[in-house]
Amino acid sequence: MKKLMAANWKMFKTAQEAKDTAAGLVELVGELSDDREVVVFPPFTALHAAGEVFSKHEGYSYGGQNVCAALEGAFTGEISPVMLKDAGCSWVLTGHSERRSLFGETSEQVGEKTTFALNNGLNVCLCIGETLEEREAGKLEAVIAEQLEKGLATIPDVASERLAIAYEPVWAIGTGKVAGPEEIVEAHAIVRAKLLDILEGKANTTRVLYGGSVKPENATQIISLDNVDGVLVGGASLKAESFSKIVTA
Ligand code: G3H
Repeated sequence: MKKLMAANWKMFKTAQEAKDTAAGLVELVGELSDDREVVVFPPFTALHAAGEVFSKHEGYSYGGQNVCAALEGAFTGEISPVMLKDAGCSWVLTGHSERRSLFGETSEQVGEKTTFALNNGLNVCLCIGETLEEREAGKLEAVIAEQLEKGLATIPDVASERLAIAYEPVWAIGTGKVAGPEEIVEAHAIVRAKLLDILEGKANTTRVLYGGSVKPENATQIISLDNVDGVLVGGASLKAESFSKIVTA
């Protein structure tokens, strides 16, 4: 199973900046080793520009940061899976903690989006993770279970590699406070066990990524941990120099 090295550019970069970063990244990475795959999630307006670069390089793909559970219609401000595919996307993020906390997305809505995107040909990276309050209250396992059960409640029977899970403890996102190795191993073991349970054993090629303050300095250690099949990187993916070091860690 290839390690999935994912970059979430959030609400950063104009089209030109995205193109320049993408070009810098492929140049700095050079030949991508055959145990790595790169997926970048630019903002919608930069998908085409980034895609011009990534579509010419094997091992690179890109996707949307959000998707609507409808093909088209009166949904102001939303984007459909058809539109994302039209822009060359093969992936989409669902359930990112910023969507949940800032835009009120529930686990049920995340589940609808995940199912709809998979049914309409996109690969999905479903994001889950607990807040500090939940962790301190001993609810780590319960939160992971709830987010996975609802997020995957109605998913179709698709190849398990079309689904990835990003475990991102909310307290580690953008804070510089990375989860420790034991914390990551513990959470990923819970995610893997729950996934096998929900997908009735058909989760062997579903990659479980870690996200939250991943940097060039900690990436090598993180991707070598048990059950860590890649990373989802925010801040440190914005510069080609730092993300290229993570991709090749
Ligand atoms: O989607 C990425 C995560 O939110 C992690 O962001 O690497 O800036 O902590 P970060």
